[in-house]
Amino acid sequence: MNNQEKLDQIRKNILENKNLSLRESATNLVFGKGNSDAEILLIGEAPGEKEDLQGIPFVGRAGKELDKLLHMINLSLEEVYIANILKYRPPKNRDPKQSEIEEHTPYLIEQIKVIEPKVIVTLGNFATKFVLAGFDSNKMKEIDGITKLRGNPVKVSVDNAKFTVIPIYHPAAVLYRPAWREQLEEDFQKIGKLLQEKDKYSGKQ
Ligand code: URA
Repeated sequence: MNNQEKLDQIRKNILENKNLSLRESATNLVFGKGNSDAEILLIGEAPGEKEDLQGIPFVGRAGKELDKLLHMINLSLEEVYIANILKYRPPKNRDPKQSEIEEHTPYLIEQIKVIEPKVIVTLGNFATKFVLAGFDSNKMKEIDGITKLRGNPVKVSVDNAKFTVIPIYHPAAVLYRPAWREQLEEDFQKIGKLLQEKDKYSGKQ
């Protein structure tokens, strides 16, 4: 099976899990989008209204911001994969509950094991804490908040997987805190630079 087929199987498994929290109130499963062989994985929090209606992550206002930022560092959907902590929209976009994170993240972990990214960009507090806690939702409270961690790449190894995590503000945050835009753009430039260095060392042009 290739990566796309493996991801399709995970998507099917989620759809077959009739008891998964938030499923009842949601319109569609929001599984992920992008290249299943990408070296860069971006992880958001949870689908919003537009994502829920279309079944695709980051298609609303936050998605437009994210598209602009990716474009700024010459990245397209061909080169990244984008997924969320929660696979279904929480009512009225409220924060994910601990129990929901525990139920939904095993699927995210399966996605990560298939994609095997070299770089994971975590968007906002929930994704950052989950990944830096070594994919253990019970340890998330031990991790600092995004305002402290943003823009600083961290090398992480979990089981046999090694990758670099870059925590950044969630693109939705700049919609209501415009002062953060500059920092978010700065952090994206850092991501671009890190990727260039990675290519340099791996001999790619
Ligand atoms: N915000 C997220 O975290 N994920 C989405 O898919 C859309 C908005």
